[in-house]
Amino acid sequence: MTHRNLFWIPVALRFALVSVAGLATGYLWGALVGLLMALLVLALLLLQQLFYMYRLSAWLEDPERVRLDDGGGAWTEIFAKLYRMRREDQKNRAELAEWLSRFRQAMSQLPDGVVIMDDVLFLEWCNPVAEQHLGLSLATDKGMRVTNLIRSPEFIDYIILGRYEEPLTLAVDDRKLVVRLIPFENRRHILVSHDVTDFERLDQMRRDFIANASHELRTPLTVINGFLEIAANQPELDTPTRTRHMKLMVEQGQRMQHLVEDMLVLTRLESMDYPLREEEINIRELLEKIEAEANALSAGRHQISLVVNGPDLRGNTEELRSAIGNLVSNAVRYTPDGGEVEIQWSNGDEGPRCIVSDTGIGISQEHISRLTERFYRVDKSRSRETKGTGLGLAIVKHVLMRHDAQLQIHSEAGKGSRFTIQFPRSAMVLHEG
Ligand SMILES: Nc1ncnc2c1ncn2[C@@H]1O[C@H](COP(=O)(O)OP(=O)(O)O)[C@@H](O)[C@H]1O
Ligand SMILES: [Mg+2]
Repeated sequence: MTHRNLFWIPVALRFALVSVAGLATGYLWGALVGLLMALLVLALLLLQQLFYMYRLSAWLEDPERVRLDDGGGAWTEIFAKLYRMRREDQKNRAELAEWLSRFRQAMSQLPDGVVIMDDVLFLEWCNPVAEQHLGLSLATDKGMRVTNLIRSPEFIDYIILGRYEEPLTLAVDDRKLVVRLIPFENRRHILVSHDVTDFERLDQMRRDFIANASHELRTPLTVINGFLEIAANQPELDTPTRTRHMKLMVEQGQRMQHLVEDMLVLTRLESMDYPLREEEINIRELLEKIEAEANALSAGRHQISLVVNGPDLRGNTEELRSAIGNLVSNAVRYTPDGGEVEIQWSNGDEGPRCIVSDTGIGISQEHISRLTERFYRVDKSRSRETKGTGLGLAIVKHVLMRHDAQLQIHSEAGKGSRFTIQFPRSAMVLHEG
């Protein structure tokens, strides 16, 4: 936008007015009168200028209340320019305020904590997540030194050492936070905090799983290697010993295979992108198969019974076969010879349910809450003797989670156990007619 400066026009006009008035009266009444006339007009013009200067000064003092009129002569142009500047300034301020409030709102929505501090680390602003993470309160702590508010020695060291390229891991209550200080704009500071508690827990679980799995695989491998070495070093061994060794090696090989298979099943069940494929399950058919497997495992050492008295179910047949099969095989394996195992299917108040009960060795109270942890066993040697992997109930837990079902465990050491799978009512299949 180009704006021509027209200031000179009214100034020239006023000079013309003074000259014409002076010259005209001078011509009519003599030089002295002409001079006086010119002076008079000049004085009037000066008064007018002084008046507008006064108005301008008053307006500058309090632009909200005092109004600038159009002004006369050159002032019109000046006043107009000042007005324009002020309007633009107001617009900029409003835009800035709006932008700042939007920026704060966006910061408040961030999943991470943000703290803004001045050059000497006094709190200027923080978002609600930072309040939660670091125990700050913007309302009461504003203007206080952040190192007085976050009293952790590691944090204070971090601030003092000033190696801000590296983030700091901070334990606050039972949370793990990664915080980082970022200097910005001449010597202001921004502190960002990120909650890594869940990530750390998952990471720990993963590490434990790898350690446990390696440990589980090492035992059978050691046995197999031992026999292989014997076979290599002692070719004169007699056939019955050799056969016995072979048999033990095959057993250990199978154990490793079971372990790896269960680990693969668990990994697949845990992966997010493995959706549940649901179908209508013929419950009687499924439970009869499981009962037959249990009979094969028991080889007549237990009395196994099946009662089906409930509706069919929507779910994944293979997964539920593995889950219920696990409970039933546990019941057989942890029940001494001559005991009883019962599988019941019924429709309870809360929906269909499957109860697997036994009269076996039972589980004492302190173990029950941990049974579904991976590799958790009450008695390692018994689990191993009966070809357990320690992953069965972890698989059960995952399958049930995928089916929105719950596992309830009731057990008493020496008396027996009852595992109940409670399905939601919505999983029930209602046959017509
Ligand atoms: N019916 C049961 N009676 C007694 N103890 C059981 C029963 N079912 C499970 N357990 C205990 O729970 C542990 C974990 O079971 P599971 O995850 O299936 O592993 P595994 O059977 O391979 O040892 C078992 O080692 C055992 O100590
Ligand atoms: Mg098991």
